[in-house]
Amino acid sequence: MKAVISSTGLWTPKDSISNEELVESFNAYADKWNAENAAAIEAGEKYAMTYSDAGFIEKASGVKSRYVISKEPILDPNIMAPRIPARPDDEPSILAEIAANAARGALESAGRAPEDVGAVIVACSNLQRGYPAIAVEVQSLLRTSGFAFDMNVACSSATFGIETARGLIMGGQAKSVLVVNPEICTAHLNFKDRDAHFIFGDVATALLVESDDIAPKNHWEIIGSKLVTQFSNNIRNNFGFLNHCAPEDDGLNSERGKMGLTDKLFTQNGRSVFKEVVPMVARLIKDQCEAHNIDPQNLKRMWLHQANLNMNVLIAKKVLGKDVELEQAPVVLDEYANTSSAGSIIAFHKHSQDFKAGETGLICSFGAGYSAGAIFVKKVA
Ligand code: COA
Repeated sequence: MKAVISSTGLWTPKDSISNEELVESFNAYADKWNAENAAAIEAGEKYAMTYSDAGFIEKASGVKSRYVISKEPILDPNIMAPRIPARPDDEPSILAEIAANAARGALESAGRAPEDVGAVIVACSNLQRGYPAIAVEVQSLLRTSGFAFDMNVACSSATFGIETARGLIMGGQAKSVLVVNPEICTAHLNFKDRDAHFIFGDVATALLVESDDIAPKNHWEIIGSKLVTQFSNNIRNNFGFLNHCAPEDDGLNSERGKMGLTDKLFTQNGRSVFKEVVPMVARLIKDQCEAHNIDPQNLKRMWLHQANLNMNVLIAKKVLGKDVELEQAPVVLDEYANTSSAGSIIAFHKHSQDFKAGETGLICSFGAGYSAGAIFVKKVA
């Protein structure tokens, strides 16, 4: 028995924000901050904001736009955050709803009836509540059988989810497992932070991981995989259930506080992330190619995590020893921005139809933790 990937699904919000729209709103917010805090800035107690720039954003990251669930409030200089109305407990929660939307696509494309799915894993960076698990709500919305649970390995949640599903299948817990990645990244992003306000977007992806004896003919065999983690504070979000126990600790006493920035949203040392993660991921891919007897040159495609275009270009170059065509390492972050764990799955979903039987590719995630996951796949039939 082998665990294989039977299908994928993708749900995309209808609204999108261009870099130009984002920068216009940020610059209006910067003017407002500077006017409102003029005396404190003059006294050196607070920092003045400088303008953001659409040209910088595209050059530094490759991002041109991002899909979002709540556009107007993000662009409102008086709000600068999504506003997603709270729902009563007897209505589906938003995270479960978008997860189910993506999951339905994966079920439909595999021709799988929901009741034949034995487990649901919601694997993502930001879970909406403590409990009950979002995955159990998704199980109820879809009417799948068996059990469900949530897991979080930040940007590597999807690859770690695939491996978890594989373990459940090999251990006999289920024959068909939905791995779903609902990522409302705009709600953990600080749109008042010039260094990061352009990074993330919203989306949901799904993968159906199944035992090969029930999978549709047209599936992907998993021919090798590896997960790694290594602790780092360079990507961090201090939001959590203990925060309300110490409400005075709002993170505003730090240097970032002088720009009105809290530590209860996404923060990063982008330069350090770039420098440390690129070699870590390139080494992981090369070592695993060797371990599984795969010539990297024979990988038709690498569906890499979509955080930063320059990072992906460099990783692909280190792995293959030459400049790589975009076709070999496709980019979706220009349109979607960084969607955390969903990024490499969007790339796989959108750029895999041309694979013929026997051709191989790599799904690879990396991000906070640090964490990285490499899943080598071969198209069957
Ligand atoms: N508009 C205009 N200029 C900006 C800007 C903005 N929005 N943000 C930063 N800058 C400026 C800085 O002030 C700095 O100017 P200085 O050199 O005069 O001090 C300059 O641009 C370089 O800033 P820096 O933050 O060092 O940019 P960078 O070239 O490292 O690019 C990232 C920033 C975030 C795009 C890049 O570091 C990155 O992508 N790192 C990896 C991130 C990642 O993968 N994170 C994972 C998230 S899960």
